[in-house]
Amino acid sequence: MSIHDKLKRLEELRRKAEEGGGPERIQSQHDRGKLSARERLDLLLDEGSFVELDRFVTHRSSDFGLAERRILGDGVVTGYGTVDGRLVYVFSQDFTVFGGSLSEAHAEKIVKVQEMALRTGAPLIGLNDSGGARIQEGVVSLGGYADIFLRNTLASGVIPQISVILGPCAGGAVYSPAITDFVYMVRGTSYMFVTGPNVVKTVTHEDVDMEGLGGADIHAGTSGVAHFACDSEAECLASVRRLMGFLPPNNTGTPPRRETDDPPDRQDEALLEIVPDNPNQPYDMHDVIRAVVDDGEFYEVHERFAANILVGFAHLGGHAVGVVANQPAVLAGVLDIDSADKGARFVRFCDAFNIPLVVFEDVPGFLPGVAQEHGGIIRHGAKLLYAFSEATVPKVTVITRKAYGGAYDVMNSRHIRGDLSLAWPQAEIAVMGPKGAVEILFRREIAGADDPQAAMDARIEEYREKFAHPYVAAARGFVDDVIDPRETRPRLISALDMLRNKRDENPPKKHGNIPL
Ligand code: HXC
Repeated sequence: MSIHDKLKRLEELRRKAEEGGGPERIQSQHDRGKLSARERLDLLLDEGSFVELDRFVTHRSSDFGLAERRILGDGVVTGYGTVDGRLVYVFSQDFTVFGGSLSEAHAEKIVKVQEMALRTGAPLIGLNDSGGARIQEGVVSLGGYADIFLRNTLASGVIPQISVILGPCAGGAVYSPAITDFVYMVRGTSYMFVTGPNVVKTVTHEDVDMEGLGGADIHAGTSGVAHFACDSEAECLASVRRLMGFLPPNNTGTPPRRETDDPPDRQDEALLEIVPDNPNQPYDMHDVIRAVVDDGEFYEVHERFAANILVGFAHLGGHAVGVVANQPAVLAGVLDIDSADKGARFVRFCDAFNIPLVVFEDVPGFLPGVAQEHGGIIRHGAKLLYAFSEATVPKVTVITRKAYGGAYDVMNSRHIRGDLSLAWPQAEIAVMGPKGAVEILFRREIAGADDPQAAMDARIEEYREKFAHPYVAAARGFVDDVIDPRETRPRLISALDMLRNKRDENPPKKHGNIPL
């Protein structure tokens, strides 16, 4: 056989591998509003950058008719490419091949890119569309999953790991995405659950469909398992590309700087009007964030989950930052179980990947109630406290209004190694709000007064003057400065420049024991 004949054969085999389960099955994907494994990679990666590995791998099992159907690639396309010129590793499960189910060989392909990503310090993006363990391969397939879970765990905090759910993801298979840093889902076509609707019906007699049990909105809004819910695969993959612009390649790198025409000394007049004069009136913290960050662009993470805290990425003077902010427009911005979990996980991600933290604080405290106490608000709230305390990246806080009680300590206070704390003149920093404090301190006096309401109002006014402002904290150096709200952007950019070479370390340890 001449080299030309051999090249022809190679070409044929390549074409065959690219067909996956064949045109009919690809059409059936399209009919369901889903793209093929390769079309997805085309959208995710820079044009022409994808380099495939292991396209000739096939499954090994011969049971239940598998001997007659060996498909090149074995249901997953793996390799590397670039996003905005930066290296990423990828795997993309191919539902047209045995439902994207995971065989021994399929798992080995994923493990290979996991290990290459870890060895070369580049992010790994997994596109999941799979019927789970390849039933015909039994325990070998389960072992393949465990191999993937282990590598996910070892890579955690070393390289960013992103999971995009673009089809079914059921049973133990959900635990690989769950270990990774960010989970994306698409409404109407992607599902995650440990047991599907039929099993649920048998065990608990609950009637629920796939979307209602484990669809994108459920996981992005109720369970918090997913960080993003998108309307289409194209939107989803574009969103992943956007995320990558904030991330370093690994835990020894720094995030890419992004040039901007937004002047670092820009002062936004709107910042004077956002916080209402009445301290009990809500406002939207998004308005503060957008007025301050570069070009008003805030890439929000977990937008629909625990909306009383906001987390997400932005740039300030070209620096990528992780923003954590109380949201007075939802539950007055209190900390509760879900918001503490959400905040803690985000803080730990940013800390692991050298992304400075910028905190906007307006928090009346922790949410009172039997459900919260019984649900473990102590344990969950402690996660946020722990996460901020252990973080060694640059940490800057702006107190826009309330900083009350334990929540004052938790939200990146200077006492837990916050590097710089700035307060707006409207800031109220105290053990609790005026009304609550007066009711405790002067209950008897007020009850015995001729005019209890007037007595109460007088004491509240007195308390306000004494405590409901930033100057007691500023006199102690607990806040470094009280600033005009319009100065927030320049002051934050100056702080980030000043902290660029920050060095801080935690005591040597195997790992801490965050209250999970
Ligand atoms: C082998 C599978 C498969 C699997 C699907 N297929 N799942 N083959 N192992 N797990 C094959 C089907 O036989 C079919 O092949 C093709 O993929 C498409 O499947 P359909 O059922 O026709 O598609 P659809 O109607 O869209 O349903 C998709 C599905 C369903 C919801 C995923 O296939 C399904 O319920 N599959 C089983 C899911 C499951 O229980 N997996 C195990 C989960 S436990 P043909 O040749 O007919 O086209 C698990 C443990 C993980 O994964 C362990 C980690 C510790």
